[in-house]
Amino acid sequence: MKKTLILVVTLLFVVGVTGMAMAGVVGSKHDFSGSVTWAVTTGEVCKSCHAPHTTNTTMDTLLWNHDPSTTVNYIPYASSTLNDAPGQPDSHSKLCLSCHDGTVSINAFPGEAGTGPSVTGPLQIADGGDNLMGEHPVSMYYDALQNGGVSDPDLDYNITTISMGAATLDEVLPGGKVQCSTCHDVHNNTPVETVVGTKLLRVTLTGSAMCLRCHIK
Ligand code: HEC
Ligand code: HEC
Ligand code: HEC
Ligand code: HEC
Repeated sequence: MKKTLILVVTLLFVVGVTGMAMAGVVGSKHDFSGSVTWAVTTGEVCKSCHAPHTTNTTMDTLLWNHDPSTTVNYIPYASSTLNDAPGQPDSHSKLCLSCHDGTVSINAFPGEAGTGPSVTGPLQIADGGDNLMGEHPVSMYYDALQNGGVSDPDLDYNITTISMGAATLDEVLPGGKVQCSTCHDVHNNTPVETVVGTKLLRVTLTGSAMCLRCHIK
């Protein structure tokens, strides 16, 4: 009986560790280290996005290495019922859009040709390279109060306890704002994502669970 229990516990541990080892950016959709599709030749995983020493002074957060988007003015999401209207995308969303607005090649970073393919179709999040009207708003304050506005009574503000996969909501709201990285785990480190296996999301979409983390509907 005791032996069986130990065996079960050991098996669970092994399964758990193996499951965790599978998560991460290596081998994920964001591992371009030797991608033929995206014409990246560096053997390095991080380099398409970060480098220990970068020449990039226009997007100087997080040692950003990828060339910035060529779009100067986006059309942000707008609606009459928003509590905090988003302005131009900033912070982490700008990092994602340096590839996902489709205006810049994936291999546009120091040491690479910069002339390879850029994203198209569903991966191109800004329609036409600049239009964000059809996308969930980003770069607005989660709590409009933080921007001198009125809090939305239909949002859950228990941000230190709301789970977004491996993180709590407050940890994925840089500067208090919703960004692409609030919903997506760019490094594929969220355990729940590996279970669900889709779109690098921090929380499952089954039953719209992720939407209901924030929206009281
Ligand atoms: C496809 C682009 C991409 C790749 C590849 C990538 N990162 Fe990131 N990284 C980002 C973005 C975007 C952010 C900011 C959003 C976030 O933190 O979720 C970030 C944030 C970070 C941060 C700061 C925030 C945190 O999570 O601690 C560190 C450290 C980091 N990355 C390290 C790495 C390392 C090390 C690698 C390679 C093993 C790597 N990244 C690969 C895009 C990338
Ligand atoms: C260096 C360019 C680059 C950056 C920066 C980048 N991505 Fe991507 N991303 C890609 C490419 C290219 C793909 C498609 C990979 C493939 O299917 O071969 C992709 C795929 C995805 C996917 C689809 C994953 C799937 O399972 O189908 C999501 C979601 C995504 N990216 C979100 C983000 C978010 C959010 C950020 C910022 C936090 C980001 N990406 C930053 C290039 C990038
Ligand atoms: C409020 C949460 C949320 C935010 C913010 C968000 N996304 Fe997503 N994104 C999703 C969900 C949910 C899906 C999956 C939709 C589906 O599969 O039906 C998705 C899908 C994607 C895909 C995959 C498209 C495909 O069909 O392969 C990419 C790429 C992506 N998002 C990038 C981004 C980028 C870039 C940003 C910031 C500009 C962003 N997302 C902001 C929730 C979000
Ligand atoms: C991280 C928290 C968060 C998640 C997760 C999230 N949202 Fe949102 N969403 C917001 C915030 C904040 C706003 C802006 C609310 C405001 O200012 O009125 C918003 C705005 C919206 C709007 C536009 C509202 C308007 O008045 O124009 C819709 C629709 C929406 N979200 C649907 C969704 C759906 C569907 C999902 C799941 C796929 C989702 N959201 C996931 C935080 C989130």
